[in-house]
Parts: sequence; C-alpha cells; structure tokens
Amino acid sequence: MHHLRLDAVDCTLLIACAVGAPPSLLYWGPALGKNVSGDEIARLALPQGMHGVADVALPLSLAMEAGLGHPMVQGLAAHRAGKDWGSLFRVAKVEPLPKGARLICRDEQTRLGLEYRIDLDPETGVLRIASTLTNYGATQLDLNDMATACLELPQSMTDVIGFTGRWTQEFGRERITRMSGSYVRENRSGRTSHFSYPALLLATADTNESAGEVYGLHLAWSGNHRLRVDTLTDGRVVASLGALLFPGEIRLAPGESYASPEIVGAYSAQGISALSRKFHDHVRTKLLRTEMRAKPRPVHYNTWEAVYFDHDTERLKDLATKAAALGVERFVLDDGWFGARRNDLAGLGDWVVSEDVYPEGLGPLVDHVTALGMEMGIWFEPEMVNPDSDLFRAHPDWVLGAEGVDQIPFRTQYVLDISRPEVADYLFERIDAVLRDHDIRYIKWDMNRDLSHPGGVDGGVRAVAQVHALYALLDRLRAAHPHVEIESCSSGGARADMGVLAHSDRVWTSDSNDALDRQSIQRGASFFLPPEILGCHVGPAHCHVTGRRISMAMRAATALTGHMGLELNLLTEREADLVQLKSAIALHKQHRQLLHDSDIYRLDTAPHHLASGVVARDKSEALFSFCYMWGDQHVLPGRLQFAGLDPARNYHLTLIWPDAWQAVKAPSLIEKLDLGGAGAVFSGAALMQAGMQLPHAQPETCLLFHLKAV
Ligand code: DGJ
Repeated sequence: MHHLRLDAVDCTLLIACAVGAPPSLLYWGPALGKNVSGDEIARLALPQGMHGVADVALPLSLAMEAGLGHPMVQGLAAHRAGKDWGSLFRVAKVEPLPKGARLICRDEQTRLGLEYRIDLDPETGVLRIASTLTNYGATQLDLNDMATACLELPQSMTDVIGFTGRWTQEFGRERITRMSGSYVRENRSGRTSHFSYPALLLATADTNESAGEVYGLHLAWSGNHRLRVDTLTDGRVVASLGALLFPGEIRLAPGESYASPEIVGAYSAQGISALSRKFHDHVRTKLLRTEMRAKPRPVHYNTWEAVYFDHDTERLKDLATKAAALGVERFVLDDGWFGARRNDLAGLGDWVVSEDVYPEGLGPLVDHVTALGMEMGIWFEPEMVNPDSDLFRAHPDWVLGAEGVDQIPFRTQYVLDISRPEVADYLFERIDAVLRDHDIRYIKWDMNRDLSHPGGVDGGVRAVAQVHALYALLDRLRAAHPHVEIESCSSGGARADMGVLAHSDRVWTSDSNDALDRQSIQRGASFFLPPEILGCHVGPAHCHVTGRRISMAMRAATALTGHMGLELNLLTEREADLVQLKSAIALHKQHRQLLHDSDIYRLDTAPHHLASGVVARDKSEALFSFCYMWGDQHVLPGRLQFAGLDPARNYHLTLIWPDAWQAVKAPSLIEKLDLGGAGAVFSGAALMQAGMQLPHAQPETCLLFHLKAV
C-alpha cells in the first residue's frame, strides 16, 4: 500500500505510507471521488527543482525528525548521550484499524520505533492522530522534543486563528495573517493554561462563521504544550502540535516508550461554525459518558461568590432553600468546608470536614439539600497543598520543586507530586471517604496554580507524569463512584481541553461571571466545546471581578444558553431580580434539550454585537441569542440573519427573553409583529436570506428568539 485513504461524509484524508519511505500527510480536504487515486495526488505534488536548496528534494514527514535534514522544522529530537540523534523513520508496516490504521515505522540506525495511530470518524469527520516512540536500543534514549504529528496543510490557509487569554478572560481569539517562518505558542504552566488554549485554526482570508475553508487542530492534553505553524521558504505550510517536554523529562530505558497526546482535527468547507459542530459531535459521542449525556444537566447553585470562605450551616441551608425555590437542581459547596481552610492561606490537602465550621459534620447540610430534591456537589483541589496544613507538615517531601530553587508563591500553595503512588492513594482515600460518607453526586475539581518547577523527589521532571496521574486518579474515582459527575475547573477555564474531558463531565468556563465578558468567553469556548458542558453562572448584580453592574435580564440570558447555574447571594439580591431569575431558570429547563443537544451556528456580526444559535438536528426548532454589547453610531442594529434553518419550512418566531421586553422606542418590529406574545410565522428562507430588522435596544441587552417549525 502506498497510501492510506480514509473517507468521512465531507472530507478525505490521504497519508503517504509506502513501506521503506517516511510517512507524510498527502491530502486532507474536501471528499475525493472514488475515481481519484492517491498516486495521482502524489504526482501532482512531485518535487521540483529550486535554487538555493539541497540537490535532492527534502520530503516532509509526520515526524519531521532530525534525520530528514530539514533546515527549518524539527518535530522530533532525541539522542543517546549525544549520539544517535539523526533518526530517519521509514514505514515498516501498515495495520488496518476499524476507522483508520496503525503506521509502524522504524529507524534501524538509531534503533527506534515510531508508531502512528490515525483514524477518521466517518460520521463526525473528526481526525485523531497519536504517536508512540519506542527505544529498541540497548542504551537509554533522551527525548528532547516530540510533536504528536506534523501536518502539511494547503498554502491557501493564509490566516492563523490562535487562542489566548488570562484569568477571567479565557478563550480569546487572535486572527493573524500567516507570516513566513514560525508562529509558535508554548505553554510551560503544567496545566492547559489560561493563556494558550491548545488549539489552532488555519483558514483562508475570507473564511467566516458560515462560509469558507478552515482546519481546526486541538491537542487533547492538560499539560505543557507547543503549537506551531511553520511557513517554509518554499511556501509549504506545516502545522504541528505536541506536549512540550522539559530537559531530561523523558528518558527511555531499553524497551520503554513515550506516548504523545492525541491531536483531534477537523476540516470544514462551510466556515468555522461547521468546524465547531464536528468538534461538538466528537466531544459528545467520543468523550462524554453515555449515561451522563442522557441525563438532563441539573441547574446549579454554587456557593463561591455568595459566601467565599465564610461557611455557616444555617446560612447555607437558607441559601439552599432559596435556590430550590427558584428551580435549582444541584447545590455545590465550594472551597472552605475542610481542615483549617478559613481563607486561602491554610488547609489545602487536609480533606476532612472542618469541625470548627461544621461541628455536626456535613450531614445536616447534605440532608437539607437532598430533602429539597437537589443533588449535592462539593469542591476539592486535590493536587494542591498549603504549607500551613497537616498534610504538608507530615509530608513536606510530597511537593514538586527544583533543587536549590525557592518555591514560587502562587495563591500560597504548592503542588503535590501526584505521580507518586502514595500521594495518589492518599488523595483517593480522602475523596473516596467523603463520597462514601455523604450522598454527594458531583465534584468540582479545582486546580489553582502553575507547576512552576515540576521536579520530583529524585530531581527529575514530573510534568508529563503529573497529567497522566491526574487522569488516572479521576478514572479511579469514577470507577469507584460511577454516579458522581466531575467538573474540571482551574481558576476558571485553565483546564478545559479534550484530554481532561475524557475523564470528566463538564468544565468551569471562567471565574468571570460578568455577563459581558462571558458572552465573548463562552463564544470562544464554543469553538471546541458544546454548550452543555460549559458551566455558565448568573453572578451578582455587582460583578466581583470587573466591578460592573449588569441587569438580571442580561446575566440570566448569558448563563441560560450553557450549563446554567447561579453563583450569587440569594439572601441579598433584589426580590424583583429573583423573580426574573426564577423565570429564566424555568425557560432554560423548557428549552434545555434543544440548548444541550443541537447544532451550533455562531453568526458574524458587527463587533458591538454577538449572536449565535442552536438548531435541532432535524431543523424543527432553534434558539438564537442576539446581544447588544455596547453602543453603536447607528440607531438600529441591522438585521439578524438566522442560520441553519430549513429554507423550505415555515417557522413560528417568538421573542422568549427578556420577559415582556419593550424596545427603547415602541413600537418596534417586536411589538408590531407581537413577537413577545403570539409570535409570527416566516419561511426559513426569508429568515436566513433577508433576515429580521432588529429593534432599537440599550447596550447590555440580550434577546433570545425561539423558532419552531410549523
Ligand atoms: C477557583 C475557581 O475557579 C472558583 O470557582 C472557586 O472554586 C475558587 N477557586 C475557590 O478557591
């Protein structure tokens, strides 16, 4: 076989894999007809003579290993005590897999094996690649660097869309024109990070949400990473993603292997939203547990922004009572219930219910919550320890660090080396005990600092091992408590990748509950993650992070479209706001199935607006959100062109939020067509092609429209 050919609904992948030659990506793009052969695609890309380069054509390979002799890109670098650095991998065997193949490559000179597992899901169109390097030699191998794979993509992809951010501003997008040389994003924080979401998009200059070609690549990994797009002097474009390794971190003894994290990729010829729909399908059908997918996502109440560390059973019970009355279905007790954790200076690691704050234990609160018909959830930050804790006093050697270097202070906490079996066992036993002692159905698993110096007790780097240990601990807890759902939180959304999602059930999107910030953060997260796994909470009227005051109508509309929750002090909020909140929760539940299991359509709008919607897969129903972020020089905001509807069907259109909404100057179209009441019927074609003139509204207004096919 010269080529591995994989076909999905709308795309084809061809990997050159002739035995004896390096493997490479030959084609990935629109579906090729059966009459098209890999050979002709290869012939159309035959190497040509060029001045100023090597006399022989230098091929690109999936590994871009040192032995290729390529002057610009190196995807794999390894050596044995300074020798055997020039591996050149050639395919030895191709073994078919149900949706792809295993490419077994060898380099006899350096005695290394490199295997690729490649599959393309025919239904979702999602490509997955993982690679494993094995040391077949008699001596130790040092691996400096290894991208999971290096993929040549079309030169017509002139734009790179990268993901950036910071605490409370996750999932920011930066679109730049691809330049010569290298676009590189590196993350050494030891977690997925706020500042470099492990993903890249490559698109044509005119690709937008609804049209144009785009490739998306995501590294399913919750640790250090390197993402690159290299534009070579000959114009070819190579994208590569992989775990970033620290010096000496991966040393393979004879017979040992290093397995890279998986790249999850997708291609769309219909714009970026269509690409996101593929990633959402992947998360839903391949990562989430079937039983959790089937269960409606309960509306949360989270105690953090209501009480912080000021825990008091009676007040928490009052909050629970109030939350249940509003329609909340799960009560999550956040940080502060254990050990000496009365502030963030002490107690982390001591996972025992605090007798000071809960003299009768957690039982009375849990009983109260469950008697109200809600599930109970609880916060842990298992990977961390405060120096002021019983755990640290007993085991100061359990923390990660670097010899001779002071710990970098970071929220007054250190990181435990959870790759040590005794540490993982301790954490399992503590968490397991809390879950066994109480009727708890949900864990918010937090992680609030970088692994600044990820060295273990033997002096070696444990960053990769730490991520594997995290996944193993999550799996062990899941196996012991299959009915318990786990949320991956990391100071907001710093650990929300597809690696951790294979071991958890939802993510905390951001610590900013500011609805204006959240509109953009949630939009960015939706590039890869479906709305039902994005924790979206209604925060206090006076936002704690930004200081902004935002109406309940706007806050509720923003949380309502994701996995809805509340995170505010219900005992001090205005009664009128609580009445409105109750009606938003009811509305969320009414449309939860549609919101949580449909196709996403983000709309392209002017920068001061944000709009997106979900459309049922059979196109029988849809819900769109249009948000006026800030003021415009024009009075009217232009038209809302719906997307994803069936042009041939008629839809009953209503404005479902805010309740009883009135335009700034009535009558607007909303009143004239009675969209807030009986509604009106329009064809899908008219709604999408002509669009609806939007009303004059104040900034910080979010309108939700419902469409039902008639
Ligand atoms: C960071 C999380 O993102 C917050 O939601 C909250 O759980 C705090 N940690 C608690 O310390």
